[in-house]
Amino acid sequence: MARILVTGGTGYIGSHTCVELLESGHQVIVLDNLRNSNVKSLAVVEELTGQQVTFYQGDIRDAELLRQIFEKEAIDHVIHFAGLKAVGESSQIPLDYYDNNISGTVNLLKVMADYGCKNIIFSSSATVYGNPHTVPITEEFPLSATNPYGRTKLMLEEILTDLYHSDKSWNIVLLRYFNPIGAHVSGDLGEDPRGIPNNLLPYVTQVAVGKLKQVSVFGDDYDTVDGTGVRDYIHVVDLAKGHVAALKRLAPETGLSIYNLGTGQGYSVLEIIQQMSETVGRDIPYQIVARRPGDIATCYAKVDKASRELGWTATLGIKQMCDDAWRWQSKHPQGFED
Ligand code: NAD
Ligand code: UFG
Repeated sequence: MARILVTGGTGYIGSHTCVELLESGHQVIVLDNLRNSNVKSLAVVEELTGQQVTFYQGDIRDAELLRQIFEKEAIDHVIHFAGLKAVGESSQIPLDYYDNNISGTVNLLKVMADYGCKNIIFSSSATVYGNPHTVPITEEFPLSATNPYGRTKLMLEEILTDLYHSDKSWNIVLLRYFNPIGAHVSGDLGEDPRGIPNNLLPYVTQVAVGKLKQVSVFGDDYDTVDGTGVRDYIHVVDLAKGHVAALKRLAPETGLSIYNLGTGQGYSVLEIIQQMSETVGRDIPYQIVARRPGDIATCYAKVDKASRELGWTATLGIKQMCDDAWRWQSKHPQGFED
């Protein structure tokens, strides 16, 4: 059982991962500046697990605060979620993204090295595959980035790889997430985006609950089953469990490992709207609009490596993802403020 610093632990994936870590017997220390989250998520985590989380409100760019945390908390491993993640926004304020994601992570790594804590799991993304030449996507595919957000993930993967090559006592796991959706089965923990959602699922559930009028489907002329974009949606609880499984790669004898975390199965936008309509019990209104710049047609993972080396596979299907997302949205239309 380990003491784990979870940066970004009040956010969507971080809070679900805290639940799984606590339920696996680990101790959890969260650092988050609440820029894109609500601290109430941690109260829910504590309620669901019956266990306590130590919380520090602050920034990964604050070296002094990080030193205090490492001084006091005897951290064994870091799971590093903290970062800005909105693709569109990253093109408008690129320096904020580079400062927050890159400088913040470099700062964190320096303090970790100072305290001899060299075990880190990093949140990467399928975005590092750019526009893949084919599917399913394996971890060996060529990497590229098409926007500043994607570039921060790609650069951080390179920085972490350089770090490992400079000092083989680091243990680094890069997890490339596909499209996390869904919520904790209780319906009390879920994604709580600020403003109008950028991602498909929260948009669809907000239409279903009556907060938004209709879904705009970005293009129906892709070379896919029905012309709309295909993605590898993964239940956030499966994704969270993937982190617990990845902890076993942080043993002293291992080095730098990279895993896709997805289901290996793709669904189109219209298939998601159809599934959510069935979940909700009524049609969800949508209209076809122009393609969104930068979107690709199809993206889904080959997931054998994580299965083979981590003993982890996603088990929850698309119906469960939609049912759980809807339970969260309908129980808490205003997110954590309800
Ligand atoms: P999120 O915004 O809900 O969580 C990120 C958390 O980090 C937030 O709580 C935010 O307040 C915090 N944070 C941001 N900058 C910080 C800083 N400088 N110091 C301290 N805390 C800071 O996002 P999420 O969906 O939970 O994503 C978690 C990670 O996974 C991110 O790194 C994201 O890029 C990555 N990722 C997400 C997706 C996705 O679709 N959700 C896909 C691939 C990768
Ligand atoms: N879409 C719509 N209407 C919407 C929103 C999305 O039709 O209102 C479509 C998109 O065109 C795409 C699919 O729904 O075909 C999924 O779009 P999302 O915005 O939900 O997700 P993306 O695949 O574009 O990107 C997400 C994250 C990225 C991450 C990537 C891979 O936003 O940060 O998954 O992990 F890199």
